[in-house]
Amino acid sequence: MLKQEIEDGEASLADPAFRADVLTGLASRPRAIPARWFYDHRGSELFEAITDLPEYYPTRTERAILVEAGPAIAAAVGPGRAVVEFGSGSSAKTPLLLGAIEPAAYIPIDISGDFLRESASELAAQFPGLPVLPIEADFLRPIALPDGIAAMPKLGFFPGSTIGNMIPHSSVDLLRAMRASLGTGAMLLIGMDRVKDVDVLVRAYDDAAGVTARFNLNLLERINRELAGTIPVDAFAHRAIWNDMRARIEMHLEATRDVAFSIEGRNFAMAAGETIHTENSHKYGERDARILLRAGGWTPISEWTDAEDRFALILAEAQPPRLAP
Ligand code: AVI
Repeated sequence: MLKQEIEDGEASLADPAFRADVLTGLASRPRAIPARWFYDHRGSELFEAITDLPEYYPTRTERAILVEAGPAIAAAVGPGRAVVEFGSGSSAKTPLLLGAIEPAAYIPIDISGDFLRESASELAAQFPGLPVLPIEADFLRPIALPDGIAAMPKLGFFPGSTIGNMIPHSSVDLLRAMRASLGTGAMLLIGMDRVKDVDVLVRAYDDAAGVTARFNLNLLERINRELAGTIPVDAFAHRAIWNDMRARIEMHLEATRDVAFSIEGRNFAMAAGETIHTENSHKYGERDARILLRAGGWTPISEWTDAEDRFALILAEAQPPRLAP
């Protein structure tokens, strides 16, 4: 604890990594703060609300694909797999998968311990007899799986198009880390959002009710709350734009007038029109998705989409690499 904090009788509760990302991100050009900081309690509530919006098609589309393709997925993966879910969160889609296949164990991995324990015990109650072995960890790093599942074939589960929130370089690192954690012979069932009509995409990230705007702006509220910030939140506007070159929706917070503020005593100024880049959501065409998976060490073997091809669930297999030809 710092001397000043002891004298003030109040220690800062802020996560040091949040402080570092905010201070560094606002001092950089272009200004950017990683999207993972959206998810404080309020941000997680707002994200749940986003998944119910009429414009936000990914969640309901992926759920419908899982329901419809359940029997085909079960036939492709076979019984007796340990299902390892990366960033399980509220495990909202997991019962659909676990109910469709005959799993031998379920291992949810999430960085938020409270969330993880709560959803793990709900799932254990829903699937009596299924070993549920939660791991509190950052799934971006290599993970040691419980000894009890070592001999079981694995099925990684990474729904929600969360992979889209990473730049391709980091996505490939993550896919390789998953492959290393799950081992040869493992399978991976991954959700990816497709490239589509730009209006549909932009509306999904800039809804009429303004929920996504509140989700984006909550990041500034969080900075003010947790890092003694003085950001005038009403001077910022939510922007969702399609970056065609990079095939991604970008979310930004744009200053609508010249602003000056401080965060933990550090001063910042932004001119009207300047933005803070807060999120990327990459979209993958059919072939793009397959190339990404192959680059990460996974061979795609089946895929299921909705009738409009808006979203894809892809099943891939970790096979020994064949380098050439
Ligand atoms: C969590 N992730 C896959 C969402 C997405 O679609 O990129 C986050 C989100 N941001 C705005 N709306 C939804």
